[in-house]
Amino acid sequence: MEFLESILLPPRADHVLIAKYIIIVISLFIVPYVSILFGSSLFALGFSVREKIDRKPFFGQFGKDIAETFLGRMVVGFVMGILPIAIIAFCFALVLYGTGFKVTQYFGIILIQAVLMLIASRMFRNSFENRERGFLMHVVWGLATIGLAKVVIYGFVSVITMIYFPEKWPYIDGPMPWTYDWSMAWKFVHFLVAALALTGAAIHFFFLNWEGGKEGLSSEYRDYVRKFGGGVALGLGILQAVFLLLYVATVPVMTKSYAFFFSAMLGVLVMLIASMYLLNILRDRETRFGSHVFVLFLVFFLVLLINDNYARESALHYQNYELAALAAQHELEIETSRSERGNAAEASVEVGKQIFDTKCIACHRFDQRIVGPPYNDVLPKYDGDLEKLSGFILNPVKVNADYPAMPNQGLKPFEAESAAMYLMEEFKKNQ
Ligand code: HEC
Repeated sequence: MEFLESILLPPRADHVLIAKYIIIVISLFIVPYVSILFGSSLFALGFSVREKIDRKPFFGQFGKDIAETFLGRMVVGFVMGILPIAIIAFCFALVLYGTGFKVTQYFGIILIQAVLMLIASRMFRNSFENRERGFLMHVVWGLATIGLAKVVIYGFVSVITMIYFPEKWPYIDGPMPWTYDWSMAWKFVHFLVAALALTGAAIHFFFLNWEGGKEGLSSEYRDYVRKFGGGVALGLGILQAVFLLLYVATVPVMTKSYAFFFSAMLGVLVMLIASMYLLNILRDRETRFGSHVFVLFLVFFLVLLINDNYARESALHYQNYELAALAAQHELEIETSRSERGNAAEASVEVGKQIFDTKCIACHRFDQRIVGPPYNDVLPKYDGDLEKLSGFILNPVKVNADYPAMPNQGLKPFEAESAAMYLMEEFKKNQ
């Protein structure tokens, strides 16, 4: 994707602003999608192995149902994963223009890994049919999906984290900015825990709430889904709130701001409310709250992403100033090159004809009075004096009391000269 760098123009300040908002919105696709893909492949494989050990088909069925609900959906994967990664790469390239941070290269690598992850998840899902005979391959595809999802998450987290450390960019020499700061490790673990918590909420939601829940589930099965999904969501949900607090405490000073703290606290609050609902689900069997929980979890992710944006904002403060200056300079360059071209261009009869055909013709003919006088009447007075004629065309003054004044046509000097050349040429022909 490095070609992106070369086709990008220095961005304008408002483009950078739009790109920042797009990053938040698009992350809201990628982050939950990859999270649930990671979590569901882990749970599906876990239940499949548990079936093997405990010899209870129930677990195998649950694992298979999880896989069929969340894994290997190519269209969903393209819309929620592949396409957003490409878009976000483009946006980051705009935001980080001219910094030398190889963000498009990094996202290009992540993109390839995401495609492999999608293919592996498809193979894993299909392998559930033959898990009796081909158990080894089944496990291999499961581990491949989990591993690739982890790699994608780690790549995403590491690139986004490294954006906070401009001073370390020159030292990144590998294909990816893997581990250059320990707060990245925090973020990674946090992400994995959040991913599993969200998957718990998603399992509850898509099995029991979405469109009235899956059909034909026994009450024993429903009860297991309620306890498993709700339990995972509650336990890991609270854990990730703790992680969020730790993260806020350990993030570099330069990324801190009031908005950053406020959004982090908002995230903890959202998680608390979700926990209340989860307690209702687990204690009082109120499965209908599953939708509330799932939506609150998504809101939590949104708050996290906004929080991340604030951190980036403060870290990139300097970069923002640079960009604004760069953009202004670029606009100035365009402006000067335009006006230089305007003044330096050669006047010609061709250009003059064009100008006549587009502008003057509205009011003038050679032999006919329209709004202005016929050229055949007025041109003799100029007597071949090109300079005098183009001077009038450039800056018309009131001449004849029989006519209204001619409005200024806003021409460049060379255009006025061209028009004058054309008029004289035609006038001579008509003689
Ligand atoms: C909106 C109508 C309008 C347009 C468009 C217009 N003119 Fe005129 N032009 C007039 C009028 C009205 C006069 C008479 C002005 C006066 O006598 O004071 C005039 C007068 C002139 C004259 C005679 C000046 C003189 O010394 O008597 C020339 C030459 C001329 N226009 C050239 C042009 C050319 C070249 C263009 C196109 C680039 C053009 N005009 C476009 C309305 C127009």
